[in-house]
Amino acid sequence: EKGGYPDFMLKEIHEQPRVIRDTLAGRLDGGSISIDELDMSSEELHLVDRVYIIACGTSYHAGLIAKNLIEAWARIPCEVEVASEFRYRDPIITPTTLVVAVSQSGETADTLAAIRDARVKGAKVFGITNVVGSPVARESDGVIYTKANKEIAVASTKSFLGQVVSLTLLALLLGQSHGTLTTRQIKLLFSELADTAEQVERILADDSAIQEAARACADATSALFIGRGMGSAISYEGALKLKEISYLHAEAYPAGEMKHGPIALIDEGFPVIAIATRGPVYDKVVSNLQESRARGAMVVAVATEGDEEIKRHADHVIYIPKVRDAFSPITASVPLQMFARCIALERGCDVDQPRNLAKSVTVE
Ligand code: F6R
Repeated sequence: EKGGYPDFMLKEIHEQPRVIRDTLAGRLDGGSISIDELDMSSEELHLVDRVYIIACGTSYHAGLIAKNLIEAWARIPCEVEVASEFRYRDPIITPTTLVVAVSQSGETADTLAAIRDARVKGAKVFGITNVVGSPVARESDGVIYTKANKEIAVASTKSFLGQVVSLTLLALLLGQSHGTLTTRQIKLLFSELADTAEQVERILADDSAIQEAARACADATSALFIGRGMGSAISYEGALKLKEISYLHAEAYPAGEMKHGPIALIDEGFPVIAIATRGPVYDKVVSNLQESRARGAMVVAVATEGDEEIKRHADHVIYIPKVRDAFSPITASVPLQMFARCIALERGCDVDQPRNLAKSVTVE
């Protein structure tokens, strides 16, 4: 059943190029994005003036990524909130608010409760889930399925990527309905998005740098993940994956916050994992790396292929193919999944069945 892989987690990590392709299949119709399942006319979509993304855990991190895309491409304010907070507040919801509920299992108790609340308050709710016919699918006004197929490892990998790609499609659709993206831009973005399948394949083909970095960090007691912009959203997911399966304490911080507290943690050999891909905030991240290294940190940088300069600021470099910043979460998350898995194996952990965790959380 593991298809020749030593564990389900690795098998599922390797399925990700297929998930990207399946999630995108048939979505560009002529020059426009089509998500018919949403059952909303372009006029209705055009009226949307606020988006809330509601989710838990890894699915919440997919939401953090999507916020950047929705605001950049559709110019609609977008908030991302963990479902267990959203449901116990009184969030501002009007009939032109679109609530997007993201849940791999489609049965997370807090996410379902948030869907029910939002609908009572008059919002339209889209579900994004991996499980056909699940409660999230049934209780939402429209649903996008993530096409990951069944995920067995408790830590989510391929369904996370399916969520990120599905939310990216939704951001493109909103950009289209709001007239903030041209047909030409949509076609270009879609084709670059489709290219990420092959780029992820290339990352999967050579894990030697990831293994080397993982071995260097395996004995640590704590690690810090940092990034800016898209990189900060990616950092949260990298840290969660690591703590879940290796029980190594990991925390994520927007790199600009280092000076405001976390830098006090850094001493000789303290692992700092940085998302340092080439993009609008590259130089800023590099200066955070210099500050960390000056205090003895052991820096692992996820960087863009061809970037020689980064070697001066990092002890270990994991190169990934060059992509537009908007798509960097798709490529940069994959080596972090592999990094977490390698550390967990070094530490003798069961990567498929981490302690205390369940694949679906149907109680509060
Ligand atoms: C992390 C993980 C959990 C889930 C969370 C939400 O790897 O699997 O953090 O993401 O429990 O679950 P769903 O997406 O099923 O609502």
